[in-house]
Amino acid sequence: MKLTAEQIQSNWEIFLDNINTHILGNRGEQLSSFYKRYEERVILMPAAHKKEYHSAFPGGYVDHVNRVVRCALKQYDLWESEGCDMTTFTKEELVFSAINHDLGKMGDKDHEAYIPQTDQWRKDKLGEDYMFNKKLAFCSVPDRGLFLLQQHDISYTFNEMIAIQTHDGLYDAANEKYLKAFMPEQKPRTSLPYILHQADMMAARIEFEIEWLPKFSKDSVEQPKKNYTLKSKTTAKTKALNTLSSPGLKSMLDNL
Ligand SMILES: [Fe+2]
Repeated sequence: MKLTAEQIQSNWEIFLDNINTHILGNRGEQLSSFYKRYEERVILMPAAHKKEYHSAFPGGYVDHVNRVVRCALKQYDLWESEGCDMTTFTKEELVFSAINHDLGKMGDKDHEAYIPQTDQWRKDKLGEDYMFNKKLAFCSVPDRGLFLLQQHDISYTFNEMIAIQTHDGLYDAANEKYLKAFMPEQKPRTSLPYILHQADMMAARIEFEIEWLPKFSKDSVEQPKKNYTLKSKTTAKTKALNTLSSPGLKSMLDNL
């Protein structure tokens, strides 16, 4: 999928507007100036390095984050209408977590995490338009995102920390300690992590549908080539059978 320059620009304006609207006071200003500082990098970032993953194209990161914010706000209303206790977290915490849930994909303050692929074979055969920047020390996406926030003096609440940490839900085994607890006192005290996870999953699924399902339609799926060899062999065999008068030879040929 490709975004036009206008779409990339408009997505960036929506991204900054979400911060201005939902993140209050000094923290909102700090977050805004943090993203403006890294604007050139963030605005064109893909959301993944491999094209089979969601939104792995220029501008895909901001496009994905904006969708997660939209889905999160809609999930908020859904959970509220079903009787979820909305006093255990704030809408600001939900939007802050949604905006920053994948921040670790940015890399660190000096290095981008995804750089253009230099190996043509991997690009062609594996669909990797980007590759991980080996200058970066290994770190999980949530850990790196939280580190970047604290490194730039942007505070986050306990709820936001757990939500960002567990946004991949049980797709990441590291989250089992928070999400697979059987003892009631060990379960999250707020539904925020579940709401964020559902919003992220919903956004990624929709991005898959937009990008990939059209490629699986009847018209675009490559049809297997017809087996002309078999057809001509069958025709040749039928012709040959018709020319033979001996029942023994006919039977032999028919069994070939
Ligand atoms: Fe995400």
